[in-house]
Amino acid sequence: MIIAIDGPAAAGKGTLARRVAEHFNLAYLDTGLLYRAVGKKVLDAGNDPEDAAAAETVARALNAQDLNADGLRVDAVAQAASKVSAVPGVRAALLDFQRDFAKTPPEGSNGAVLDGRDIGTVVCQEATAKLFITASTEVRANRRFKELHQADSGAIYARVLEDMKERDERDSSRSFAPLVPANDANVIDTSHLSANQVFDQALIFIATKTQKA
Ligand code: C5P
Repeated sequence: MIIAIDGPAAAGKGTLARRVAEHFNLAYLDTGLLYRAVGKKVLDAGNDPEDAAAAETVARALNAQDLNADGLRVDAVAQAASKVSAVPGVRAALLDFQRDFAKTPPEGSNGAVLDGRDIGTVVCQEATAKLFITASTEVRANRRFKELHQADSGAIYARVLEDMKERDERDSSRSFAPLVPANDANVIDTSHLSANQVFDQALIFIATKTQKA
């Protein structure tokens, strides 16, 4: 069983993916971490995330340990991730890792759930079920702002909203593997739904796919 979950930042993909993983005993891969790890290494080396050659070199040398690095969640790294992820060579370098995880998840699990931007359209086109999780930009910025505000009371909503718009625009307009729902994805707008409601809708959709299989 392979479940693909795509969507923009702070739409609720991660929350849903963890719950789906637990429910079906699936291994979970947050693929955004791969791009964040590449972005962070490029920044740490003093290079520009838009330098395609530098980003591709880092992506080719990435290993599983890099996904545990500190500081992958900060906004500067998210922006760097979004820049390196537009480089075709970076995406190609990370593809095998993601496909291997989906096809041969850790022993003992019943399959895998991957979340990202292009799981249903590129990485796992054969996924059992594809979900596209979205929400209005304002709702997503508000969620991210609340998270940030807990750690840093100086966080500014307008800045969070701007960063989110910039990242969405870059992720959606890039020519290689842009953020779009797969044709056969079930789109769930979480703007006015609780995490439980999103989970319930996802389970209903997954059931329609697994009963047919
Ligand atoms: O999901 P997360 O916010 O951690 O992703 C960080 C960035 O990595 C995204 O803005 C996007 O540019 C990139 N990404 C991607 N493809 C994926 C996952 C993430 O391009 N499958």
